[in-house]
Amino acid sequence: MAAKRRFQTVKGMRDLLQGEASAFAYVEETARRVFRLYGYDEVRTPVIEATELFVRGVGQGSEIVGKQMYTFDDKGGRSLTLRPESTAAVARAYLQHGMGSAWPEPVRIFYMGPHFRYERPQAGRYRQFGQIGAELIGDPGPYSDVELLLMLLGFLSELGLANPRVGLNSVGDAECRRLYSSRLREYLAPYRDELDADSQRRLDENPLRILDTKAPGERKLLEGAPRLRDVLGGPAREHFQAICEELDRAGVDFDIDDRLVRGLDYYTRTVFEITSSVLGAQNAVLGGGRYDGLIADLGGPSVPGIGFAIGEDRLVDLISPERKRKAFGEQPVQVIPVRASHRRDGLRVAQELRSAGFAAICEFDARRPLKVGLRKAGRRRCRWVVLLGEDELAAGTVVLRDFENSTQETIPRADLAAALEARTASHDGT
Ligand code: HAM
Repeated sequence: MAAKRRFQTVKGMRDLLQGEASAFAYVEETARRVFRLYGYDEVRTPVIEATELFVRGVGQGSEIVGKQMYTFDDKGGRSLTLRPESTAAVARAYLQHGMGSAWPEPVRIFYMGPHFRYERPQAGRYRQFGQIGAELIGDPGPYSDVELLLMLLGFLSELGLANPRVGLNSVGDAECRRLYSSRLREYLAPYRDELDADSQRRLDENPLRILDTKAPGERKLLEGAPRLRDVLGGPAREHFQAICEELDRAGVDFDIDDRLVRGLDYYTRTVFEITSSVLGAQNAVLGGGRYDGLIADLGGPSVPGIGFAIGEDRLVDLISPERKRKAFGEQPVQVIPVRASHRRDGLRVAQELRSAGFAAICEFDARRPLKVGLRKAGRRRCRWVVLLGEDELAAGTVVLRDFENSTQETIPRADLAAALEARTASHDGT
């Protein structure tokens, strides 16, 4: 007989259970609230797009396209890919729906949902992960860049993450990058043998990518390398300066990070990342930047854009347990009929509580509802238990037990919701 197979989640993917799923919901609701304050509209694009979109958008030479995409042919022979990111998808939607003329410019959009990359799984890195992102399309900046960053920081601070480490850089315009690439290539050429295989390949294809190497020897070598900032052309330099000045004026703490180049090919000028010591330097909480050439690269007009995407799994790891617990809300009120014959009353009392806006669970165990109900209330960590006994039902009352303060009182059944309301409100106010 064939051995029974126990199914497990696919490597690098996970189930989000109870508290985790609600922590995701909490950050998503907070994002919706904050992003709407800035006039952003939510959109949902499909999880699957034509492979060519990412090849053209994110770039043939990027790690994402080269190594990390879940690509397959459908039954009609089309090459499709599970989205590894959403900026290219939003740019596709912008063109497909003629947003440039149909929507007031600049177009402000946000999105959230699962994304897929075939990466080596480790803490904070999954093959299916959540992203919350925003894109502003149609304004060349720099005030849009600053406003977008302020929105992002406002969002993080709403989640209790004040003063995150913001790294900022400019990768300039295409011309600046061409010039810089040849300077960096010249500088690194004599050290070619000291570079690892990946960096040697990058030296030929796209030397900028070597800048974010993690190899200690290569980082040391780069200390003496020319700086991108020093070759920025006038307009790109002025743009960057204006952003830095406005961020200073807004009291935002940030570091100019000369090595920050980001791994997607569409970036121009502004790039930024937010890291946290809790996650380690390799795992940014979020990244973003300007992509003034992307829409044109996808066959559209020359329209500038800027945006960011936050890694939801990583963000949730940074939020304090108290905040997550609070976001999860109170456990339901446990209604317990003392005898099985009182279950009908239990059903009704639970319904009355729900009508008043309280989550409630009634214990329907047919043999020992009181014992079973109290045990489950303990396991669920319920604060409130409503007991329905013979005497109480006859008198039109219920017993309300508060596990947090170890108190118990008998109150008229008709006053139950109001009593809970008053006690919860006074508790919140302390
Ligand atoms: P990205 O830096 O590739 O940028 O991804 C953004 C964030 O997604 C990362 O900072 C990280 O927190 C999270 N992330 C990426 N891969 C994984 C993974 N395997 N597991 C967990 N989290 C992950 C983009 O995707 C750009 N589309 C951002 C953007 C929007 N730029 C302009 N607009």
